[in-house]
Amino acid sequence: MTDAVLSHPILTERLILRCWQEADRDPFAAMNADPRVMEYFPSTLDRAASDAVVDRLQAHDAAHGFTFWALEDRATGDFAGFTGLAHVGFAAHFVPVVEIGWRLPVAYWGRGIASEAARASLAFGFGRLALTEIVAFTPNRHLASRRVMERIGMKRDPADDFVHPRMPPDHPLQPFVLYRTSRAAWAETPAAEHDSLKEQP
Ligand SMILES: CC(C)(COP(=O)(O)OP(=O)(O)OC[C@H]1O[C@@H](n2cnc3c(N)ncnc32)[C@H](O)[C@@H]1OP(=O)(O)O)[C@@H](O)C(=O)NCCC(=O)NCCS
Repeated sequence: MTDAVLSHPILTERLILRCWQEADRDPFAAMNADPRVMEYFPSTLDRAASDAVVDRLQAHDAAHGFTFWALEDRATGDFAGFTGLAHVGFAAHFVPVVEIGWRLPVAYWGRGIASEAARASLAFGFGRLALTEIVAFTPNRHLASRRVMERIGMKRDPADDFVHPRMPPDHPLQPFVLYRTSRAAWAETPAAEHDSLKEQP
């Protein structure tokens, strides 16, 4: 199986998780310029920084056959943020490992969209990629993101809390919490029993 095959879009009830397209850059930049979206990040992103993120996500996809995929609203075709999988790019006690992550425009919050996309990403990671473990991390105080982690069956051990090495140790977003889930644990969940992962030919 080639990386291109692995990158075929993933369908969920309301979403398409797919490769990044040039048309995503405008709505992605608008999302990254919104202080509500970036409340738990060091800063909002300007256009150049936002485009650089797209470049990195596309490069990760090309290298590994997965990334934080662009989300497309199946009902409207609109850009709905990103969710997906990526190798953790910094040193920490839990690395090397693949993380799951999400970022949605405010209009898409509060409807279970992140959880829906995340469950499909876990299915891809444990199914197609045969990973044994997937982690997620967020500032301790970011309760909405932690809630998504809990909804999809991830577990936090306080002993895994860490100081994010890409931020000053005394930054107000420190410390970070780590959630983990394993292929064995995922296989026990209802989501794993269904064919929750559908790929377009
Ligand atoms: C975090 C984020 C992806 C959540 O998306 P979402 O689609 O609203 O998530 P869901 O609807 O699947 O679930 C959200 C859960 O968090 C809860 N929640 C939302 N805001 C909350 C808050 N301020 N405090 C506590 N819980 C909160 C919701 O009630 C829901 O839980 P419930 O189903 O038990 O009620 C979205 O807010 C976002 O994109 N934020 C900006 C980017 C970001 O911070 N990404 C994560 C970085 S680690």
